[in-house]
Amino acid sequence: MTAPKKLFVKTYGCQMNVYDSERMAEALAPQGYEQTEVAAEADMILLNTCHIREKAAEKVYSELGRLKALKVDKPDLKIGVAGCVAQAEGEEIMRRQPAVDLVVGPQSYHRLPQMEAKLRDGRKALDTDFPAEDKFDTLRTRPKGRRAPAAFLTVQEGCDKFCAFCVVPYTRGAETSRPVSRILEEARDLVDRGVREITLLGQNVNAYHGTGPDGREWSLAQLIWALNEIDGLARIRFTTSHPNDMSDDLIEAHGSCKKLMPYLHLPVQSGSDRILKRMNRSHTAESYLRLIERIRAARPDIVLSGDFIVGFPEETEADFQATLDLIDAVGYGYAYSFKYSTRPGTPAAERALVDPAVADERLQRIQALITRHQTAVQEAMVGREVNVLVEKPGRAPGQMLGKSDHLHAVHIEQSSAQVGDLVPVRITQSKRNSLAAVTIR
Ligand code: SAH
Ligand code: SF4
Ligand code: F3S
Repeated sequence: MTAPKKLFVKTYGCQMNVYDSERMAEALAPQGYEQTEVAAEADMILLNTCHIREKAAEKVYSELGRLKALKVDKPDLKIGVAGCVAQAEGEEIMRRQPAVDLVVGPQSYHRLPQMEAKLRDGRKALDTDFPAEDKFDTLRTRPKGRRAPAAFLTVQEGCDKFCAFCVVPYTRGAETSRPVSRILEEARDLVDRGVREITLLGQNVNAYHGTGPDGREWSLAQLIWALNEIDGLARIRFTTSHPNDMSDDLIEAHGSCKKLMPYLHLPVQSGSDRILKRMNRSHTAESYLRLIERIRAARPDIVLSGDFIVGFPEETEADFQATLDLIDAVGYGYAYSFKYSTRPGTPAAERALVDPAVADERLQRIQALITRHQTAVQEAMVGREVNVLVEKPGRAPGQMLGKSDHLHAVHIEQSSAQVGDLVPVRITQSKRNSLAAVTIR
């Protein structure tokens, strides 16, 4: 028997790329590939890339420049680029970095086995199609064996919203939803392998409209209620949602579905209606705030998070101030903020930029405000009893790490809990990016 070949996968970008990386490794397993954590040991290296901001895309080229050196000692090493940079730049990647042997897009990676065979023949392989077949149908059988207690599951992919700044509709393609039966089958399999928490993934996950067992289109809320029936599954989350797709049944589920966790990531991008319009977001700051009120009425203790872009073309100080006001009005438990990055091919790419020094200064101000709110939400947790899903041992003896229902990272001190246990704890302290807790006896 020949020794197994080694595959090294490095993942950039969003949670869907984390899920896809796992599926790519599964696709290559029948070709004799085992995963390694050490790039220098690998027979094949795959970079699963992100194109969302210029920096994310440029990182890939500097990494490729470094990895190329490994080919000197190992001429048979194959280097591949997958993900959204692969989709956006295609063949150009091989022109810019000739050490690249393979380029595969997010909708065609189920064809990796055939592409790998091509590489073995000494050829290069490129596939950035949007095939008609469902990649997950080809990748249907998943390996057996225990898994970590929290897992991702892609249910929806792509986006038809075309926000003026965003590459996702071009890199991931049109919005599609997987059928309900396939998702339930995958979820049951995950639970059989030790998973207790599933995060449903989609670029626009609450636009989910997959075919149900009754032949009709099911909403995300209907899917969540079906998952709620799976014995052994303790927690359900979903990300990322668009404000315009927060349907009544989904808001209602946040109030009544026990397994659906009290946390919601609901990006708004800006608090200025003028900028929202130019971003093609098709909601206003006011409609977003009214939506938040309805969600909080259904689930008063829900922790909210968001995404913000600062320095979008033509953003004035008054527009920016409106964003700060919206953050104060919502009181996010967490938020991501990004300096606007021009993406070639998107509508906003043609517009005049805000002075970069002004954008930098706004980014610092928004981040300081977000941190204040994050701290306030964390401090309000002190003294409360919450459940934690234990994910791994901590550094200190007897310490275990996990996530609370509200998605806070929690350190449990002097714990006898095991990985995979769901334990009630009392929060004792708020730290910078986590909470400390003790077990309730
Ligand atoms: N599908 C999700 C996430 C898209 S990407 C959604 O609709 O919310 C994640 C975040 O990156 C976005 O919410 C946005 O805040 C940010 N982003 C997207 N394009 C960007 C760009 N050109 N410059 C800076 N930030 C960007
Ligand atoms: Fe991008 Fe907008 Fe679609 Fe989100 S909703 S993926 S920001 S185009
Ligand atoms: Fe990046 Fe593609 Fe995800 S651009 S954020 S990896 S969908």
